[in-house]
Amino acid sequence: MKNNFSILVAAVLAFTLTYCGSKKAETQTEDYGTPDETAAPVQAVDLIAQGEALVKASDCKTCHHATNKLIGPSHTDVAKKYEFTAANVTYLAKKIIEGGTGVWGEIPMSPHPDLSQIDAEKMARYVLSLDGEKEH
Ligand code: HEC
Repeated sequence: MKNNFSILVAAVLAFTLTYCGSKKAETQTEDYGTPDETAAPVQAVDLIAQGEALVKASDCKTCHHATNKLIGPSHTDVAKKYEFTAANVTYLAKKIIEGGTGVWGEIPMSPHPDLSQIDAEKMARYVLSLDGEKEH
């Protein structure tokens, strides 16, 4: 009886190992293929993720928090104020580079002349994505 039980345990273990092994192999093959229809959304998410990394690496957090007002408006409040359109990405990128005042109050936003237009647009996309809206 005891022996039978050990055999059963061994069989279950062997089955589990084999099953998990084949599962892993399946996942790996899937990772290699990137179907064309997913290429566009993946790219959009990429720009937002790059924007998030840029914002976190820059001085933005001195004055902005994702959800709380600091010296500047919370980036989520900015996202709620503006629709996620190409025109607003361009407008906010310009504001990030040139700075300015008068939209949220009298405190000025400092300029960021060292940022490229492309990086500023990625940051703007990240900010605009914070209310869950997709670019349209
Ligand atoms: C010295 C503080 C300060 C820093 C640093 C700063 N901001 Fe601002 N930001 C502000 C203030 C203040 C406003 C509101 C300006 C206004 O009322 O026009 C603002 C506004 C904004 C807006 C909304 C603009 C609009 O016209 O509605 C965005 C987007 C923004 N900041 C992004 C950023 C990003 C990205 C960074 C980092 C590269 C950054 N800010 C760094 C203070 C700052």
